[in-house]
Amino acid sequence: MSEVVKGPRAEFIWMDGELVPWDEAKIHVLAHVIHYGSGAFEGARVYAHPKGSAMLRMGDHVRRLLESSKMLRMEVPYSAEEILQAIRDTVAANKLDACYVRPMIYRGVGPAGVNPLANPVNMFIAVWEWGKYLGDEALNDGVDVCVSNFRRMAPDTHLPMGKVAGNYVNSQYAKMEAVLGGFSEAILLDHTGNLAEGSGENLFLVRDRKIYTPGFGNTVLGGITRNCVITLAQELGYEVTEQSMPREMLYIADEAFFCGTAAEVTPIRSVDRLPVGAGSRGPVTKEIQSAFFDILEGRAEDRHGWLEFL
Ligand SMILES: Cc1ncc(COP(=O)(O)O)c(C=O)c1O
Repeated sequence: MSEVVKGPRAEFIWMDGELVPWDEAKIHVLAHVIHYGSGAFEGARVYAHPKGSAMLRMGDHVRRLLESSKMLRMEVPYSAEEILQAIRDTVAANKLDACYVRPMIYRGVGPAGVNPLANPVNMFIAVWEWGKYLGDEALNDGVDVCVSNFRRMAPDTHLPMGKVAGNYVNSQYAKMEAVLGGFSEAILLDHTGNLAEGSGENLFLVRDRKIYTPGFGNTVLGGITRNCVITLAQELGYEVTEQSMPREMLYIADEAFFCGTAAEVTPIRSVDRLPVGAGSRGPVTKEIQSAFFDILEGRAEDRHGWLEFL
């Protein structure tokens, strides 16, 4: 058994239109989401940029939140602009320069049973300080990962492009398997046996200075960081191809890396105990990492309009 570790903390959580003290942000044990995973959520970041706190692509996160809600057939009582404003208010109320932002739209208490349709739709927004998801050294040194025995959900079992609470049971199985096996993270194969993604990150490979990533048909989440990486890599002159790839592409790649809001751009230094390339962060990964952090940390102009200052 793992020890119980205290979770994050901030002052206020936005719940259905009100800012409530952190310890009072509670939902009923019979809320539908707890039993059946009927919630759409997001993970976004606010960066401490020299010009002030900057939300990264928050409009795109809100768009995906509403798209995931649509997949769950939830009628959301807020517009995208209202949700954005509520996020700004929650970050401001917590007085954090940099934080992780977790909005969730979910089915609350209503009729018991699987059918969610008559349950109310509720929403909260929590924010907290969150450092480097895969460890402080991961960004420089890279992480050791395994290919999971668990496949990512198939397109006709769940809806993999939705960021839906229930989908993350699949991620949890793979993550537990990886961590208990001494790895930092797991890579899941898709329903066809080709590469999909990490338990909470998209996957990129580099071979002969060309960049590859699994496509939407490989049951990946349409990551917003994935889109940043594709944009920056193309700007740097690399050819980026979205395609199906077999597992062994990991073993013969020159470089591999994960990307996501939590993991940012994290090099992968080994897969299944085989070194990836030289077994350390490769030059293409480093170039893309630098291009990404240069924008977020104010060393380069925000030429794609990704930042919104608070
Ligand atoms: C399964 C999965 N894939 C990919 C990602 C990366 O997506 P994003 O860059 O939008 O955070 C995440 C994180 O949200 C995720 O949970």
